[in-house]
Parts: sequence; structure tokens; C-alpha cells
Amino acid sequence: MCGIIGYIGNEPVIPFLLEGLSRLEYRGYDSAGIATIHEAKLVRFRNAGKVRDLEAVLQNATPAATVGIGHTRWATHGAPTEENAHPHFDCHGNIALIHNGIIENYLTLQEELVAEGHKFRSETDTEVLAHLVEHYFTGDLLAAVTAAVRRAEGAFAVAVLCSKTPDRIVAARRGSPLVIGQSRDASFVASDIPALLGKAELVTFLADDELVELTRDAVRIVDFDGNEISRPPHRVRTDQVSIQKDGYKHFMLKEIHEQDRSVGETVREATAFGPSRLSILQEPIAPFDHIYLISCGTAFHASLTAEYMWERYLDVPIQSIIASEFRMRSPHLSEKSLVIAVSQSGETIDTLMALRRAKSAGAQVIAVVNNEQSTIDREADASVYTRAGIEIGVAATKTFTAQIAALGLLGMQLGKERLSQAEIDAEFERLALLPGRINEALQREEEIHAIAEKLHRATDVLFLARGELFPIALEGALKLKEISYIHAEGYPAGEMKHGPIALIDEQTPVIFLLSRGLAFEKVLSNMEEVKARNGQIIAVTDAIADPAVIRLADFAIPVPDVEGISRPILFTIPLQLLAYHTAVWRGTDVDQPRNLAKTVTVE
Ligand code: G6P
Repeated sequence: MCGIIGYIGNEPVIPFLLEGLSRLEYRGYDSAGIATIHEAKLVRFRNAGKVRDLEAVLQNATPAATVGIGHTRWATHGAPTEENAHPHFDCHGNIALIHNGIIENYLTLQEELVAEGHKFRSETDTEVLAHLVEHYFTGDLLAAVTAAVRRAEGAFAVAVLCSKTPDRIVAARRGSPLVIGQSRDASFVASDIPALLGKAELVTFLADDELVELTRDAVRIVDFDGNEISRPPHRVRTDQVSIQKDGYKHFMLKEIHEQDRSVGETVREATAFGPSRLSILQEPIAPFDHIYLISCGTAFHASLTAEYMWERYLDVPIQSIIASEFRMRSPHLSEKSLVIAVSQSGETIDTLMALRRAKSAGAQVIAVVNNEQSTIDREADASVYTRAGIEIGVAATKTFTAQIAALGLLGMQLGKERLSQAEIDAEFERLALLPGRINEALQREEEIHAIAEKLHRATDVLFLARGELFPIALEGALKLKEISYIHAEGYPAGEMKHGPIALIDEQTPVIFLLSRGLAFEKVLSNMEEVKARNGQIIAVTDAIADPAVIRLADFAIPVPDVEGISRPILFTIPLQLLAYHTAVWRGTDVDQPRNLAKTVTVE
């Protein structure tokens, strides 16, 4: 994963790099480093730990430098130590290189370079590139980086600084994202746009197998064969959501509370023409006879929710497959396949690779993305956007509910022949009321905070539900384990007796998602089974006043009683709050949980 950034201009580079790196920390945060040029020499500062720890190290940095590169790491090869932190140097400290991705043939290249006398100092795959640039350097940095990346296999976004050519930065991309920025008197490169917000006025995306040479007043893009590429830049949108905590203790809590707006915006845009014309997808779709939804992590849970919802209005087989597994399997792909790639970032490498595989087999691909202009957005045949704005918390919240809203509407549009106008009208009415109902669900925070105090001592938690709430149980369990580090599992309630029931005793909280409209009696029977084994029951339910719920549940959290697309969204809110408050009780790093990264650009 990792985040990379570079700047060449007239302003002091260090404050810019630190600010940019802190905005890139969602990509990884186990170590960080920067390199600048001072008096024709490379100067490097690195640290194991977060970007804020690097600030202390930078007390001795030269304030005058106006060119530099920076990196925040998510370790793949080599532990998160200072030696393994980027930038990596060549043998003589003339070349500094930062990298996002994995160089798969690094051992072969390393052997070759060691035989030539190169000395390696880290355990990373990245360092080989710095030595390879050194090997090819004869005065022209662009030529040397081109020669080096042509030898590399795997995925990479790299940026390179050389003390012998202090007036330029060279960057290259294959697989990992890279955006170039320009302002009147500076040029930038970064893993994504938020790192450049407020600085770059124009941005251009580098495509695979392209390099860029940045100087103070120009950017020059070439392909790996040296052909010049001309690509008009885009103006940076300045209406991006603020990236401040706005008084909330954590970004995650702020983002949970923003869901009335993020879901509301997503729905508003998708329903702009009213119920007589579903319009979430603008492009026509050719006939298809089956659908695959491909995604990872939380986006997979949104896809699975869609699979359940869509079966009601589409009469073709629908299958939601984890993207990394899609690539391992033999899915039936043809020009009759409709493949939906669901991704918040639009950069998850497994989702991107699965998309490419589907496209090369002739399938039509629709992206459901939050990050406009991301690689998945650009490579799909058509895109549907979630309007959640930038999400900083590593654990996805507002983008998940926006994905369910967008996918719900997309399914209705794809399957409109099987829906009556009355059904569409009723869904539109419910969606219009949804932001208010999300706020209603958020009102329960105090009770949830109190329940979380009990939950935070648990070591294992089960989340059980049936039907379209089953993927929400999976998401509830994922949120809890991601940020509180408590082991949690989501399971179909009906499947409990085939295994998980063995875990139940008085120490194991079981969270039931219970809706009057979804196998209510059957889920109540599962609650009886847990009660009979002394399990503690937390019911998240739209039937709070039901006598059986009152009798069986040790704790109950009410959810507004609404069907359709609203239901999985409304059941998600208490689970997000429960995970959040449990993590806060346990004192974990909620916004940057250990070992995780928000955008996973390694396979
Ligand atoms: C990482 C993040 C998750 C996210 C998943 C898929 O694991 O930590 O929050 O759901 O990647 O990311 P995407 O950007 O494709 O939705």
C-alpha cells in the first residue's frame, strides 16, 4: 500500500510533505520518511511510527529546501523499522526513491546488483530500484528511471530524487495509482488528490507504464518507450468535503454522523428525475444473462447485500464474489456478463485486476465508486458514484451505507421491468425519508455507549441475522474486529446450530439483527436457543416492544421499522456505533487501527 508524495517549487518543501503525508496516512502508517536536497546533497529523515512522530525527527531539517519526496509505509517486505522506511538510497546516497507496490522480481535483480558490488541496507523489495537507477544513471535521471522500471515486475508507483539533477523529480507508474499536480510555480506528484488539495490547481492521472518528469514549471509525461504523451489536466474540485474532525473525537465518529448527508446526497443524485425515470446509470446497458459483483472488505458486504436485494427484481443469476477469489476461480465470463466492481477507493488492486480480467473476456463492467477519477472508475465501461465525500477513518462507515443506497437503486434500474410503478413510488417515498430516519437511529448513541462498556470486556462476539441482514451482520463483526481487536464473527442465524452454537456460554455476547419483516419468528427461535445456553443477547431490532424480544434480550437497541433499501442501512448504524464505542472503551487507535490500511494496493 503506502502513500507517496513529491514537490518541486519555490516554497519550503517540508511543511508541504508533512501535511500531504498525514493526508495519505490512510494508505499505511507504520513508518514514514522524507528526502530533500540541500547544498547539492540528499538529506533524509526517517522514522518507525506515524507521520506525527516524523515531525519530531524533522526538528533538525533544513527549512530552506524546496524539492523533496515523502513516504508513509504499510510494510510488506521487511518489518516497520527505520532502516526499512523509505526513501531508500543507492550506494552513494545520490539517489533517493520512494515506492508504493511490490517488486516481485526483486530477489533476482538484487542478486545481479550484489554481484556488481552494490551494498543493500534494508530488507525491502524497494531498495533494489534505487540501486537499479544508480546502475543506469549517466546524467539523465528520466532515462535511468525508465531503464530501471522496465526491468521491474509487479506493481509500483515510484518517485525519484537525485542530488546530481536537483531541478527535477521523476516518477513512474505500473498498477499503483499516481496523480500529477501543477500550480503556477510548482509541480507535485502523489498517490491521490487529497494529498494535493489546496496546493495543486490542475491534476493529471498517470496511466500504467508511464513516467513523468517534474520541474518547477513543467511536467512531461512519456511512456516506457520514451514516446511523449499529451494529456490535458483537470481542474481540482474545491468542493471536497472538509478533512477536519469538526469537534468530533475521531474521524470515524464524524463520518458515522454524516450518513444522513452522504446517503441523502447519493440518493438525491440518483433519483433526480423522480420515480418515473430511474437514472442512477446514465449509459445504456447491453443485454446480460448473469451478474457478478466483485469487491473486497466492507465493499464486499455491500455487494452481498445487493445480491440479496437484487434477487427480488432481477431474474438472472447474481453472485457476489470477493475480488481476490474471483481471480482464483473460473467464473463464466462472456459478453453476456455484467460485472459490477464495488470500491470506495477505486484503487483496490484485487478489484482492479478482477475488473481487467472481466473486461478482457468481453464482459460489460460497471463501477460503483466513491473516488471519482480513480483507476476503477476510469477503466469501467460506466460508473455509478457514491456521494460520501472523503472518508478518513480506516474502517469504512459512510461509504458502506452510500454503497447500499447506490446499489439498491442500480438494481432497481437494471430490473425495472419486474417492478410495478407502485413499488418504485413506495421505494422513492421511503428514500426521501431515509436521512431523517438515519438521524433517528443515531439518537441511540448514549444507550449504545453503555452497552459497549459491557461488550468491551468480551473476547468473542457473534453477530447473527437472516436474509439481507446477514451481510450487515458480517459488516458489524468486521467493524468490531477492525477497530476493537475483539474476535467477532457474522453468521446466518439459521446456520448457528451447525457450529457457532458450540461457542455460546455466559461469556459470549450474541448480537441478533431482528426485523419484523424478515423471518421474525425463526430468528426469535434462534434467540431462544442462545438463551437456553446462557448466552448474553443484544438485540438490534425494529420490533423493540415485542414481548418475546423484551423477554429474551439482555439489551435491545431500537431501529426504525422500514423495509426496502432503508432497512440494511438503518440496521448498520447501531453496529457502527457499537464497534466505535467498544473500541473507545478499549482505548484503541480508532481512526488508524493496527495493521490495516484504507486502500489496499498490494495483492
Ligand atoms: C481495505 C479497507 C476496507 C475496505 C477494503 C476495500 O481493507 O480497510 O475498509 O472496505 O479495503 O476497499 P475499497 O476501496 O475497494 O472499497
